[in-house]
Amino acid sequence: AGSTEVDISNIKKGETHTVMWRGKPIFITHRTEEEIKEAEDVNLADLRDPEPDKDRVKPGKPEWLITVGICTHLGCVPIGNKGEFGGWFCPCHGSHYDSSGRIRKGPAPKNLAIPPYEFISDSKIMIG
Ligand code: FES
Repeated sequence: AGSTEVDISNIKKGETHTVMWRGKPIFITHRTEEEIKEAEDVNLADLRDPEPDKDRVKPGKPEWLITVGICTHLGCVPIGNKGEFGGWFCPCHGSHYDSSGRIRKGPAPKNLAIPPYEFISDSKIMIG
């Protein structure tokens, strides 16, 4: 009952769709090759909350980044395709996240969380 099935086949490369899961916004991002490469090429030593990009996506599915759309500072909803690191910007107090949803600048302490989810086919995921 706490799970949500989402058809992702209509999310174009470069787009993020937002769905609600347990009262929280979930960002479903179809990343471009450039966004994936940028995320993979970051030096972990430069990260406040060091996590390799590959640990934030499913094996063989680097084009899909699925994150909880809640800033880890004080809970605002960050805006996509904004900020200095090719990802999200939180307008509340100025946190910048990269194309892996990792915190890069500003007051937020942690990366955007990854919700529990699975691919149930190439075009559908189950969140929760
Ligand atoms: Fe996002 Fe403060 S809530 S920067």
